[in-house]
Order: sequence, then structure tokens, then C-alpha cells
Amino acid sequence: MAELGQFWSDPVEIIDGMRLLPGFADSQSLFTEIQALCLQSPLRHMQTMRGYTMSVAMTNCGDLGWVSDKQGYRYSAIDPESGVPWPAMPMALSSLAHDAAQLSGFDNFKPDACLINRYVPGAQMGAHQDRNERDRTQPIVSVSLGIPARFFVMNESVQAGIRDSVQASKKSIPVDLSDGDVVVFGGAARMCSHGVRKLKSGYHPLWGEARWNLTFRCAG
Ligand code: SIN
Ligand code: FE2
Repeated sequence: MAELGQFWSDPVEIIDGMRLLPGFADSQSLFTEIQALCLQSPLRHMQTMRGYTMSVAMTNCGDLGWVSDKQGYRYSAIDPESGVPWPAMPMALSSLAHDAAQLSGFDNFKPDACLINRYVPGAQMGAHQDRNERDRTQPIVSVSLGIPARFFVMNESVQAGIRDSVQASKKSIPVDLSDGDVVVFGGAARMCSHGVRKLKSGYHPLWGEARWNLTFRCAG
């Protein structure tokens, strides 16, 4: 678990409610945890409602897991591939998320869901809002591992400020994320659209040719 105040460089305020904690997560210890979780609930490419196969491979841990299929997006207590509950969320993961949230002004963050995403070069995630969670007063905590990726967020406070020219005022802000970086978004940024640009090729000594992302939520 990262000790409070021991991340490598100062937090960066990206927009109101969204904060980057550079190098806050201990990639090495998470590697072992994630390997074990993926043996229990293997990564899979889920289908969207329209029958499109997602380029990002996913699994989950925690009481609830995010799933997508022909019926749409939702949280489920059962892994539909295995028919049994998702693996429990290891303490090292939940305490990392809790500490990152606390440093960003969100006390008592107790995630019940952790989505595990694996991107290989060419994979991407289109702009979306995280809107399947019941309690939106709670933030999202997102951890990046492995090769670098370009995340983006649409600054919707700008959009809301200039209602007459909605399209013109939508501003995509790029955020370059490296191994160990943590992004916390809540409050004014909780419902901002965000996504990940097509992953460029690269190699990381621990994670290989991949970028992993852990997304912690209070879903239920
Ligand atoms: C997500 O929005 O679920 C993932 C974001 C990321 O991979 O950084
Ligand atoms: Fe998301």
C-alpha cells in the first residue's frame, strides 16, 4: 500500500474535480495481485449492445463487476462466464483506491467494484460517461499500469457554461498516463465523458506490450 504523501510528484488538477496522482500506485505489488485475479476470472472481450466486440479485454473483482452484452451495460455479482461470484477485491487494491480518493478530498471511499481493463497496442476506449453506478456522490479511482496511454476528458463545465454553442465549447483535454499513475474524478468531474486514445506500441519490463487499468467504483 502506498503511504500517504509518498507519491513521486505533486498532484495535478486536470479540471475541477479531477486529479492526477503521478506514480501513486506500486506497480510491482499490483502485478502479482492482478495475475492471481486473472487466473480466477480470466480476461474476456465483451460484446456491446449492438454486437460490437470491445478491443479492451476485461474482468472484475469485488462484490460487483461491470458487464456488457446484448442486453446492455450493467453491474453483476456473478461472472457470466463462470457462473460464480467475481474474486474478492484484495485489500491492497481497495486501500490504494481509498488512499487516492482521500488525498483528492473524498473521505471513506469503499469501492465495491473494480473493473480490470487490458489494452494491447491498437486497443482504445471511446468517449463515455460512467453512469451505471448508483451513488454518484462517490468518485471513480482509475489506476494505470504498464505502457503509457493517452486518456482524454471532455470538459463539460465549459460546455455547460456556453449552452448556445454546445459543440464548439466541448473541449477534449489530453492526459498522458504512465505506469503507477492514478486519476481520481468526482464532484464536478464525476459525469464528464472520458476515454482512451488508440494505444501505441511499447514495451514495459513487467507488463510487457500492454497497458492495464483498474477502475474502482461504488456501484451498488
Ligand atoms: C474506463 O473509463 O473504464 C477506463 C479508463 C482507462 O482505461 O483509463
Ligand atoms: Fe469510464
